[in-house]
Amino acid sequence: MTQSAITSRLALDALDYPIPARANRLDFMLGALTLAALVLLALTGIVLTQFYNPSPLDAHASVQAIITAMPLVSYLRDVHALSASASVVLVFAHLSAVFWRRGFRNPREGLWWSGVLLLALLFGLLFTGTVLRSDQEAIEALAHAIAGSAYMGPLGALFQPGFSNSSPIIARMYAMHVSIMPILLAGLVALHMWLIRHLGVSATGEARATFSSHLRPMSAFSLFVVAIVAALALIWPTSLLAPGVAGFEVTKPSWPFLWIYAAENLAGMPGMMLAPVVLFGFLAIVPLTDREGGKLAGATRAAGATLLVLLVAAIVYAWVAPAQVHLM
Ligand code: HEM
Repeated sequence: MTQSAITSRLALDALDYPIPARANRLDFMLGALTLAALVLLALTGIVLTQFYNPSPLDAHASVQAIITAMPLVSYLRDVHALSASASVVLVFAHLSAVFWRRGFRNPREGLWWSGVLLLALLFGLLFTGTVLRSDQEAIEALAHAIAGSAYMGPLGALFQPGFSNSSPIIARMYAMHVSIMPILLAGLVALHMWLIRHLGVSATGEARATFSSHLRPMSAFSLFVVAIVAALALIWPTSLLAPGVAGFEVTKPSWPFLWIYAAENLAGMPGMMLAPVVLFGFLAIVPLTDREGGKLAGATRAAGATLLVLLVAAIVYAWVAPAQVHLM
């Protein structure tokens, strides 16, 4: 079959719709690169489900078995963990670029809010994924979630061990990690894409390109992200600590949670609860406070930049600070 025969049968001409030429720049491709990292995350996760055992007594041993007896699966586990980190770095780069160019302004407020929910889900996936390892870090992360969720009323019930008498909490976290959250994430990504397709991106300028011409550099950059993650996984294996023992607090969380850990170091449980409220609360109000010609536009931009600097500073501080005991 010729190329044009394939094009007509798969309706690929539909990808030739016009977009602003400026959208061909890297800062307009960071969302697509986040998606590339998420696809890698999903594919490697599917492989891991075939070897991981979510029963409380076997979970840790099954990860240990992957590391010691299955070199290829162990490598894919490393790729899984690194693509999770890459998703976090890329999504923050994407959200910062969108924030700075004010891509959330009318009519894209809903697009921004769908992104805020995507970010929350990504943190949910990171948390549930950590718990699955059932090592010391996992048990401590779970203990923090149980302590924190006690303050959240009915919203926190899912994280309470007593929520279900017939299913252990690790099996419920597994269900969230491999089905509930990925389904919600896929639905939200679809909504995000629908809105981008129909509202267009905020790039200005007369020059026109087509989306198909945008796909080529985007695919090349996406392959580059996959190659970097695959190469780093070769030299940067993911740790597994000893089986978790409840009642001890000796580890720190993985780096995407260090800003929350820093707040907990400084202000205890209220700090741990407040830090995400500040970040997500700020992100939620951005399209309301920064409007065309609005009085708070400059203040919103300054607050966003300050928050990003604080976030990075908190991660660095928590990285170098010694581990602290919070719950005992
Ligand atoms: C899981 C994560 C996400 C994926 C896969 C994703 C994907 C994308 C893609 C492919 C675009 C098209 C242009 C571009 O890349 O800039 C885009 C645009 C956009 N995204 Fe995301 N995104 C994600 C998370 C977020 C987050 C966390 C936010 C904000 C809190 C956000 C807000 C927006 C907005 C407002 C636009 C339109 C930007 C403009 O027109 O200037 N996205 N997203």
